[in-house]
Amino acid sequence: MAIITPKYIAELEPYEGGRPIKEVSRELGIAPEKIVKLASNENPLGLSPKAKHAIDECINEIHRYPDGNGYYLKRAISEKFSIDSEQIILGNGSNDVLELAARTVLSPGDEVIFSKHAFAVYEIVTKSAGGIGLKAKPTDEYGHSLDEFLKLISKKTKLIFIANPNNPTGNLIDKAEILKFLSRVPNHILVVLDEAYDEYLSNDAKSIALSWLAEHKNLLISRSFSKAHGLAGLRIGYGVGDKKVINLMNRVRQPFNVNYIAQAAAIASLKDDEFINKSRLINDQGRTQLEEAFKELRIEFITSYGNFISFNLGDETKAMMYYQHLLENGVIVRPIKNYELPSWLRVSIGLKKENDVFIKYLKSFM
Ligand SMILES: Cc1ncc(COP(=O)(O)O)c(C=O)c1O
Repeated sequence: MAIITPKYIAELEPYEGGRPIKEVSRELGIAPEKIVKLASNENPLGLSPKAKHAIDECINEIHRYPDGNGYYLKRAISEKFSIDSEQIILGNGSNDVLELAARTVLSPGDEVIFSKHAFAVYEIVTKSAGGIGLKAKPTDEYGHSLDEFLKLISKKTKLIFIANPNNPTGNLIDKAEILKFLSRVPNHILVVLDEAYDEYLSNDAKSIALSWLAEHKNLLISRSFSKAHGLAGLRIGYGVGDKKVINLMNRVRQPFNVNYIAQAAAIASLKDDEFINKSRLINDQGRTQLEEAFKELRIEFITSYGNFISFNLGDETKAMMYYQHLLENGVIVRPIKNYELPSWLRVSIGLKKENDVFIKYLKSFM
C-alpha cells in the first residue's frame, strides 16, 4: 500500500461487535425471526413507545440538518438531572463522547489508564489519538482496582477511563472508592466515568457522580441511550463535565454529530420513566433466571450489574465450541477473547423466552 499512516494506526485492531441477525440469517440459512440475539447488550423490550411516537412525528423533517447544538435535548437532560446545559456534550453514541475525550486531551505518546478487562473502545480511541494505553491489574473478580490505577499514573498520564458498571465483566465499583480515587488523581488528568449501564442499577446503587462535578472539574461522566433506553440503532449518548472541558471537546466535535431522529427520540425517552423502570425490572428477572441456570449447570459467572453476564467455559476451545453450537441454533452470544478472557462468553439478558432458548441450547451441549 502506498499511503503512509502512523504506526499506531496501522497497528489498530478494529472493534468487533456482536454479529447482526441478518448476517447470521444469511450465513446459516436461519429465518431472522427464529434468531435470538443476545450479543450486544441491547434492550430486548425495544424502545419506549413515547420515543417511537416522537420518531414518527419527526420523520418529515429529516431533509433539514439537525440542531448542531442539540438545544432541546440538552435542555431535557439538564432539567432531568439539574445540571447546566453548558455542562453537556452530545455524542453519536457514547462511543463518540469517549473518542472526543481522547482527541481533546491526547498528544501522541501520552498515556491513558484503563482496567485490563474494560470496554474495548478505550483502547481504540487511545491508540487512534496516538496515546499509549496502560492496563491496570484487575481485582480477583475481574473488576477495576483503582489502587492499581494510581500506581500507573505518571507525568505522561492525560486520561483515565473507568466503566461503572463495566462491560464485559459487569462489576460495579463502590461510590466511596471512586470518590476517594478522584481526590487522589492530579486534577490535570481527565477522568472519564463511563455509566452506559447506570439505568439498570437499583436506586441505592445508582450513580451520584453528577454531584461530584462541582468539586472535581476533571471528571467527565458519559451516558448512553443505547442500553436501557433501547436506541442503539440511532447512535446517541452524552457526556457531562465542567463547562471548560465541554467547551474544549466541542471544538473537535463534528458539527452535526447527532442526527435529527436521535435527538427527538432521546428527548421523548428521557420523559418515559415507566419504560426505563419496566426495562430494569425485566432485566432483574432475566438476570436471576440466567444466574440460576449457570448455578444449576455449575458454570462460573461474574455477578453483573449490567444487562449481560459473562460466563466461563474452562478453556478457549470449549468456549468457541459452545459459541458455535449456540450460533448454529440461532442464539448469538459474544466471545470475549479480545477482552483477554478467551475461555469466557458474554450473554446479554433477554426476555424470559429468549433466555429460555439460550439455556436450552447451553444445556443441550453439555
Ligand atoms: C461500557 C460501555 N460504554 C460505552 C458503550 C458504547 O455505547 P454507545 O456508543 O452505543 O452509546 C458500551 C457499549 O457496549 C459499553 O458497554
